[in-house]
Amino acid sequence: MSAIIEPFRIKVVEPIAMPSRQERERYLREADHNLFALPADRVTFDLLTDSGTSAMSAAQWGAMMVGDESYAGSRSFHRFEQVVRDLTGYRHIIPVHQGRAAERILFQITVRATSVIPSNNHFDTTRANIEYDGGEAADLVVAEASDTASSFPFKGNIDLARLEDLCARRGEAIPLGMLTITNNAGGGQPVSLENIRACARILHAHGIPFFLDACRFAENAYFIKLREPGQSQRDVADIAREIFRLSDGATFSGKKDGLVNMGGFLAMNDDRLAAEARNLLILTEGFPTYGGCAARDLEALAVGLEEVLDESYLEYRLATVRYLARGLEQSGIPTVHPPGGHAVFIDAHRLLPHIPIAEFPGQALACALYLAGGIRSCEIGSVMFGGGERAHEAPPRLELVRLAIPRRVYTQSHVDRIIEICAEVAARAAQIRGMEMTYEPAYLRHFTAKFRPLGSSTIPAR
Ligand code: F0G
Repeated sequence: MSAIIEPFRIKVVEPIAMPSRQERERYLREADHNLFALPADRVTFDLLTDSGTSAMSAAQWGAMMVGDESYAGSRSFHRFEQVVRDLTGYRHIIPVHQGRAAERILFQITVRATSVIPSNNHFDTTRANIEYDGGEAADLVVAEASDTASSFPFKGNIDLARLEDLCARRGEAIPLGMLTITNNAGGGQPVSLENIRACARILHAHGIPFFLDACRFAENAYFIKLREPGQSQRDVADIAREIFRLSDGATFSGKKDGLVNMGGFLAMNDDRLAAEARNLLILTEGFPTYGGCAARDLEALAVGLEEVLDESYLEYRLATVRYLARGLEQSGIPTVHPPGGHAVFIDAHRLLPHIPIAEFPGQALACALYLAGGIRSCEIGSVMFGGGERAHEAPPRLELVRLAIPRRVYTQSHVDRIIEICAEVAARAAQIRGMEMTYEPAYLRHFTAKFRPLGSSTIPAR
């Protein structure tokens, strides 16, 4: 086995902040122990999200310079449309500024008060847009997805029996069915090609259109190549093309596998639906040859969509996430198995069993990682899903901290350092104290809540 390398050399660099331990203590206090409130120039390793944080290539920056910013009929749109059509086969390609804009338009024209939209798991904005239009977002992911120790290779699969049952019982109320590839819940777990084919078959047998939330389609296609029997000899682009052709349309945030900082599309085959979508686009995003984007954004996205299917890039991409997960496990840090395509999830409840859920172990761990080495992660547990408008619901199933990996941004030595910092924190886990929430907004509390540590913790100094 030879070492898997970053398949690029670095042409432009951006310094990262290296605040001292004392500075980090002050910054964390000033941010009221909420990492969303930290200015980014106080963060050494920003693992808050993989969305919109990619490094663009020289080819993408070069393409931006030839963007044609004409209001109508821009040359850049036609180039972008051609790339997306070659990849997906869809008839109608509608640019939007990011994924949730595609979701808003799609659901506004399809969802009614009685509608139900099945998926493996809906991403937050997808669910929120469906619910905003009065519909119900049904999560039908397979049972293996909730077993953090199971190494089932396709934890993003939809439960086909439950899908069939829902279609049989409420088919009339289902304007479309969806699959999120990869499934963001659980850190980007893939969906198998077999499962995508069967999902399409079931929906189509009931006359229901099938849409993809295709944000991380290339990572999903590469997992299929690596893990699915009979797929290893195929070109990953060929697998991706098949996936899109099994469906009738897609929402796409280019901020993930488009390798851009802003941009996306809504695409579909249905002429009538596309005409409605374009009308709404003009009302709220812009003319159909630019959507909510500058033409240069479309140029960069067109190049990104080709670069992301480069197999040496995908090999490096998934190896980075795997390498981080393995490093954490070797340091005794429990993570969700197997790691997905864009993030590693630490099981904060298992790492910090002495902190009751009411004292936010995930938030305490996220703060400890920042104090120990300037890592910004994202709590996905009792802060994000407990309390507030959801207080009446069951407490969150899992108490996780997500380390999401931006694309082409950090090198292996960065990841080595991240593993060291996590290991230092894990070695002193018993000394980490819980948190008290001192301010809670009415909605989406994780973004603006304020916290106070309960007692002083002794996170290792550096
Ligand atoms: N669908 C999925 C699966 C996503 O992960 C996201 C965004 C969206 C839709 C919405 O796209 O941000 O361009 O409007 N996920 C980011 C994340 C925010 O951090 O996981 P958007």
